[in-house]
Order: sequence, then C-alpha cells, then structure tokens
Amino acid sequence: MKTLTVDLPGRAYDILIQRGLLDQAGARIRAILPRASRLFVVTDTNVLPLYHARVRDALREAGFQTQACAVPAGEASKSAGQLSDLWERMMAFGLTRTDAVVALGGGVVGDLAGFAAATVLRGVDFIQIPTTLLAQVDSSVGGKVAIDLQAGKNLAGAFWQPKLVLMDPDTLDTLDDRTFADGMAEVLKYGCIFDRAFFDLLAGRPSRGALMADIESILYTCCDLKRSVVIRDERDTGERMLLNFGHTLGHAYELAGHYETWTHGQAVAAGMVLAARLGVALGVTPAEVPGQVEAAVAALGLPTRIDCTHADYAAAIGLDKKGAGEDITLILLEALGRAIPHKMPKAELLKLL
Ligand code: GLY
Repeated sequence: MKTLTVDLPGRAYDILIQRGLLDQAGARIRAILPRASRLFVVTDTNVLPLYHARVRDALREAGFQTQACAVPAGEASKSAGQLSDLWERMMAFGLTRTDAVVALGGGVVGDLAGFAAATVLRGVDFIQIPTTLLAQVDSSVGGKVAIDLQAGKNLAGAFWQPKLVLMDPDTLDTLDDRTFADGMAEVLKYGCIFDRAFFDLLAGRPSRGALMADIESILYTCCDLKRSVVIRDERDTGERMLLNFGHTLGHAYELAGHYETWTHGQAVAAGMVLAARLGVALGVTPAEVPGQVEAAVAALGLPTRIDCTHADYAAAIGLDKKGAGEDITLILLEALGRAIPHKMPKAELLKLL
C-alpha cells in the first residue's frame, strides 16, 4: 500500500494506492467516518457494471446503507440538471449531514458528485474512488469540483476536499487505449513542469504494458507532486496555476472539436507541444525542449498537433478563468521539468498563434 497525506490544515486527508483496494472500500471509509450510516454512490453507466457490485458489497459489509445513481457516461452529465436530480435522490434516500457521498468513476463523476456533496445540506463528506488514469493522477486530488455551463466547462463549482481518496490501479485494466492515453497526457505534464527525471522515465517506457508494470509508483509520483502544490496553493491563485500547462491552448482544441473529437488529454498533449514552441518564441524555453516534448507525446500515442481556427484560439483565451483583464497567464517551460507563469497581453498571444 502506498499512502500520501494531503496535509491541509483542519482538512487533511489520505490518498491510498493499492491493487485490489476496491474490496477494502468499506473498512477504509468506516475508519474515517465512524458515525456515518448512509453512503450515496455516484457512478456512471460504464463503471456501474464493472465495479459497482464489488464496492457496494464492501460498503455494506462495513455496515453502511448504500444507494447508487449511475449518470450517463460522458461530459454532458456535468450539468445543472444532473446535479439537481442527484440532490433530490439524496434527499429521497434519507442522506443526513453525518452521511457521505462516494464518487466511483472518472473525472466527470468525481466533479459532479463532489459538487453535489459540497452543496447538498450545505455540504456533506465526500470520498473519491477514481477509476480512470486521468481521475487518479489529477481530478480526484485537490478538491476542485464543478459542473459545466453553456458558457463553458467547470464554470460553476467549489473547492471541496474529499475525506479520502482510494485508488485501485487494477481499475485501469478496463480502460480502452484512448482513455489510458488521455490520462497519460496529464502524467507527462507533471514531468514537463516539475520533474525532469520523471519525464525521462516516461519517455523511456511509453508502451502501456511497461507503464502498467510501474503504475503504483507512477500514480504515487503524480499525486505527490499535485498534493505538494495543493497544500501551498489550494485556491489556485499562484503555484497551482502551473498545473494548467498545455491547458489554455488545449481548451481551444476541445472547443474546435466540440468536446467530442478530442479527449481532454489529447487536447492538452497538443497544447503542451505548442506551449513549448511558444515558450521558445517568447525567449523563455530552451530551443531543444519542444522537440523533446513532441517526441514523448507522440510515443504515448497522443496528437502533437491539432488544427483549429483563430476564432477557437480567441474563444479559448477570452474564456480562460485564469486570464485577468486584457492579460493572460500562460504556463511556459523555463526548462524541461521547470514551469513558470508568463503574463502577457491576450492580443499579443493571439497574434503569435
Ligand atoms: N487540474 C488542475 C488543478 O487541480 O488545479
């Protein structure tokens, strides 16, 4: 078992990483929520038939009453309609303030269930059981929960830290290759922005089999890096923004593909390559870095370039929640393994693009 603690004052929680951990979910949650009697499990239509029965049995063995709600798999479920439906179901189940919400699934499920937990009854405890690589290395850690609005992704949400994160790497075995690669984009991002040796390790073993052979330590490294950032900047006003490397430009690609053609990770992968190139053009990034990032992205089976229109770039820049006024903060690489924020006028960035 690998254990990490996200040591936020008054809200510290553990991340547990172990193969087969799903079967221990009940005992692990009971240990931190001794007074809870009901657990409302949010999952999706893909995950329900794969893992729900095991988790439900483990929870019931530990004395919890459970009810599950499976939302349709996909980004469209991060909606106000689904959120309101969850609230009503939680009340019909008899959820009280000493009970908890469990998210069993990927990033969509975690974000939606987390926001429901943050808001129902003015906030109840929340447990993350992420089952995709992207959710395990990124969205399940750090407390960002949200739904999407017509105006854009994640525009209504909260910072609501989980009480516990349970990661069972065996759940990654049922991901298709595209979804596995989707998560690898975020894994590679940690190497690009914080850890050159980790980048080299990933670049040297891009096959899924080789990555899975070392998956527990890969998950540990990513979560360790993320938790250090979250502890120092929970509210995303400084250092946490470095985690957005590749995301501003990736957002343009997601917009161009109407959030369907490209997965988040594919868009971020191409966004990281372009951000490395922009860094060179802006005199921040050493000339050899874009080629290194591009080779690692390609070796993982991710796109190194995605075409989009100037209008998509403009929309992505204009909507970016991190852009203040007429300026935008782009995350650039000062070196491979070291990222910095770079504030510049939006108009200048658009011209460069
Ligand atoms: N996914 C970026 C963050 O948690 O800040």
